[in-house]
Amino acid sequence: MTARIIDGKLVAQALRARVAEHVATLPFRPGLVVVLVGDDPASTVYVKSKDRAAAAAGIAARTIRLPAETTEEALITQIARLNADPAVDGILVQLPLPSHIASQTIVETIDPQKDVDGFHPLNVGRLAMGQPALVPCTPAGVMKLLADAHIELEGTRALVLGRSTIVGRPMASLLLGANVTVTMAHSRTRDLAAECRRADVIVAAAGRPRLVRGDWIAPGATVIDVGINRLNDGSLAGDVAFDEAIGHAGAITPVPGGVGPMTIACLLENTVTAALHRR
Ligand code: GUN
Repeated sequence: MTARIIDGKLVAQALRARVAEHVATLPFRPGLVVVLVGDDPASTVYVKSKDRAAAAAGIAARTIRLPAETTEEALITQIARLNADPAVDGILVQLPLPSHIASQTIVETIDPQKDVDGFHPLNVGRLAMGQPALVPCTPAGVMKLLADAHIELEGTRALVLGRSTIVGRPMASLLLGANVTVTMAHSRTRDLAAECRRADVIVAAAGRPRLVRGDWIAPGATVIDVGINRLNDGSLAGDVAFDEAIGHAGAITPVPGGVGPMTIACLLENTVTAALHRR
């Protein structure tokens, strides 16, 4: 069996076009502010892509760049200003923050109605309770990929590999909401291979290159690879050994070109959702 490749670039392009069409019909321009503290190279690249994609969709986007020495207090003051600004619908503080700033404190400072990352405890709690919420962009993107690929989820077994607040935990909530039987695995899971082999759907978000091997995948299973790992030779690898997995899976996302492009597309959608809800 050779797996069908799920093309995230294509699905993301279509979603971005739909968001742009929607924005064009609005009597106002949704506003998104991305805050970047410091000059981490990867974060700088991500923030530029977010800003550019938002502008292309007709969203009024701007990036506030603050020096790495910015105090937690100063960052809180900045966010309070954005919370109070009626033209700002979405606020995204790029993570990770410098180590002298407590990320959790910052996340809790953002107005939950403007929390387009879905990281505020109010949105986290609402999602966990199955209530409408701003949903973290990466797991939201995974659900859209599964829907677009017509993967039947109801009643199936999924393995979510990784328990981060950005991906693993919200992913499990979303899958539960789709009536999936969800298992969460992590670095202390005893027999990861056995857990994987039971799954109809594997979502790998462990941050370890090529962790999931081909023979861990049940024949025909769907494999969603959230991993973006930079190897020593500069190349990118997912959390799944793609070359092995393709002979076992029924459908699989590549890295790059799978989940990655969906994250930004979902950020744009969240910005419009936040704007409509608030205005
Ligand atoms: N850093 C890596 N991924 C993300 C994300 O989705 N949102 C924010 N704010 N920072 C990140």
